[in-house]
Parts: sequence; C-alpha cells; structure tokens
Amino acid sequence: MEKRTAVYPGTFDPITLGHIDIIERSCRVFDNVIVTLAINPKKTLLFSPGERKEMVEKAVEHIPNASVVVFDGLIVDLAKERGASAIIRGLRAISDFEFEFQMALMNRNLAEGIDTVFFMPDEKYTYLSSSIIKNVASFEGDINKFVPDFVARKLIQKFKKEI
Ligand code: COA
Repeated sequence: MEKRTAVYPGTFDPITLGHIDIIERSCRVFDNVIVTLAINPKKTLLFSPGERKEMVEKAVEHIPNASVVVFDGLIVDLAKERGASAIIRGLRAISDFEFEFQMALMNRNLAEGIDTVFFMPDEKYTYLSSSIIKNVASFEGDINKFVPDFVARKLIQKFKKEI
C-alpha cells in the first residue's frame, strides 16, 4: 500500500508541548510526517533556523516516523516534491479558524489534491503559543510545563544574553 505522507509546517520559535502533541497525533494517522520549519516573513524571530531545527529534531527524537526539514518556499511545493497528500495544522480555538481556513483554501487552490488536515491538541495546550511562552520567559516566569526542558534552558539562556 502507498505510504501516506504529510507535511506539518510552522515557525516553531520555539517548539512547544502543544506542537509535539500535534506531531504525535498526526504520526499515528500518517505513515510519515515531515515537520517543516517554514518561513513566515511577517514574524520577527528569537531563534535562528539552525537553533529551531535543532530543538525540533530533539523534540521528535522519540517518534520514528517524524522527520524535520527547513524549507524556504511554498509549502505545497515541498508537499509535491515529497509526495505528501496532506498539510497538517493544529486548531486550538475558534480564533485560529479564520486564518487557517484562508490558508487551507489558498493551498488547495495552489495544489488540488493536497488537503489540509486539522488536529486538536490536548485541552491543556489550547491556550499556548510560542509568543506567550517567550513573553513569560522574558520575565523569568516558569515555562517548564509548556516546553521540553532543553527548550526551557535555551529560552532562559537567550533572555539572559539579551539583557
Ligand atoms: N501548540 C502551541 N502553539 C501552537 C500550536 C500548538 N499546537 N499550533 C499553533 N501554535 C502557535 C504557534 O506557536 C504560533 O505562535 P506565535 O504566533 O506566537 O509564534 C501560532 O500558533 C501560529 O504559528 P504557526 O503554526 O507556526 O504558523 P505561522 O502562522 O507562524 O506560520 C506558515 C504559517 C509558516 C505555516 C505559513 O506561513 C506557511 O505555510 N508558509 C510557507 C509559505 C507558504 O506556503 N505560503 C502560502 C500559505 S497559504
């Protein structure tokens, strides 16, 4: 049977337990999930692509069918190149819907046959975002419940250096 491959794009600045929850769920449904550090030119980022990739790789080490790439281009082009039939996105709240709906339809318009599949993270992660975690970390708040310990250490180092 043909392998079902999906791409999971995001900025991952940095990866959180919510993202990992989505990756684990999608890896139970798809044969291969390519976690893709994509470029969103609207965002000012804290971590370099290399740092983000290293953190994502470490975070998915325990999932044999997840891989990680950095990609600067249209996500549908990567999906076509890798034979993926789906783009994974996480839906945390109604507020995500409008943007996700617009992206999903644009991507389908760009590449008919590649559909967006949404997963809902565990309720305990529905209020998380990378920005809110960075905000808490910048004031030395406790972020250990929201990110893997190696990400928490990186955030602490980053904000120490920036002061
Ligand atoms: N747990 C925790 N946080 C989550 C989450 C989850 N399960 N799911 C989403 N988020 C958060 C992210 O941390 C991020 O927070 P932030 O804004 O504070 O950084 C936010 O939700 C959304 O980020 P993300 O999922 O990384 O998407 P994005 O909006 O940064 O990136 C791309 C969108 C990169 C996927 C999109 O721009 C893209 O595909 N780019 C490639 C170019 C392309 O194809 N463009 C055409 C698209 S139609």
